[in-house]
Amino acid sequence: MYRIGQPEVKRVENLLESGEIFRYGKAGECDQFEADWGRRLGGVQVRMTTSGTTSLYCALVGLKVGPGDSVLVPACTYMATALAVVAAGAMPIVAEVDESITLSPEDVARKIAPHTKAIIPVHMWGLPCNMDALMDIAEKRRVKVLEDACQAVGGGYKGRALGSIGHAGAFSFNYFKNMTSGEGGAFVSADASVFRRGSVAADCCSYYWNPEEHRPDEQFAGLNFRATEISGAILNAQLERIDEMLDRMRGHKRTLTKVGEDAGLTSITNNSLDDECGTHVGFIFQTEERARAFAGEMKTLTGRAFLPIDTGRHVYTRWDPIMRKQGAHHPALDPFRLPENEALQIAYSEDMCAQSLDILSRAVLIGMHPDNDREKVEEIADAIRESAKEVLS
Ligand SMILES: Cc1ncc(COP(=O)(O)O)c(C=O)c1O
Repeated sequence: MYRIGQPEVKRVENLLESGEIFRYGKAGECDQFEADWGRRLGGVQVRMTTSGTTSLYCALVGLKVGPGDSVLVPACTYMATALAVVAAGAMPIVAEVDESITLSPEDVARKIAPHTKAIIPVHMWGLPCNMDALMDIAEKRRVKVLEDACQAVGGGYKGRALGSIGHAGAFSFNYFKNMTSGEGGAFVSADASVFRRGSVAADCCSYYWNPEEHRPDEQFAGLNFRATEISGAILNAQLERIDEMLDRMRGHKRTLTKVGEDAGLTSITNNSLDDECGTHVGFIFQTEERARAFAGEMKTLTGRAFLPIDTGRHVYTRWDPIMRKQGAHHPALDPFRLPENEALQIAYSEDMCAQSLDILSRAVLIGMHPDNDREKVEEIADAIRESAKEVLS
């Protein structure tokens, strides 16, 4: 989805020529990215890490999630969302998605229990969750919200940046994301304590490099998920591109959504069509058979379209370490065996989120690309019209 080119090459070249390739000890590339990304997100603190997974983990640690807590995660997300919860020592509880292909506020309200510490809305495929409803429930039920914006870098919801609405947010900058440094990530929070604790999780020596953040009562044994200056340099160049890319895709999505609806198709629920990433156009069908027929036609005509149910590790039934309760490399560290988690009585089954399996089997997503020109968008529009005629007649 990303673009990469001479600005990134030049920036990395300058960095290498300077020889200053460690992030601390100077105001460098990572510092600049953290400041600029934080400003863009409306004034949150940002800590770069090595990945989206480690960012989710650090944010959970920042939010004081641990053994004895459960965290609600959606039935449709990359399994790292649920694995980060286990890495923090807590238990992931899988909640349904609705016809927006994102976390269902109704099911969240139903599944919040006394031990629920947090919920993780995931803005899957650049599609924003219903954040108004989720924040409202979270406030009433006193649970924390960690936005997984790994697949929604740069996107928004009703005028606010995704990742900045909850109590913390996490981003991935891996190869497949809207902005990339090959691998990389960042967590964010407007809460200074969440940020400091998360930073200790991200870097066992955080207090040494960032003495102004040092609080002995917030110290513990962290690891090292420190970002590299090379990532910082690439992301600073990527930041210059993101708005134009997302604007183009949002425009294409609006056009193609209308084309589909005019052709008799039903759109997935779009929670914030004008602000989201625009990376995927989505339609929902009455039956899986029709969805497969539509996707098949689209693939023949344009080479694109897929059913979310077919995306492997993005559906809870394929999160093997979770479904098999393989929570750690050593049994004594395994959150599924910790006495603190015994009372949570976790039981996972293939059909525990039947509503999600049904929706994910009836939805079709069509990937957008910022390089699509008017001709390409017209070609996709024609394919949508033709495929719709074929399956709705
Ligand atoms: C929704 C979601 N969460 C978390 C992650 C983990 O990010 P990373 O691969 O950078 O660890 C991904 C990555 O694909 C993702 O799509």
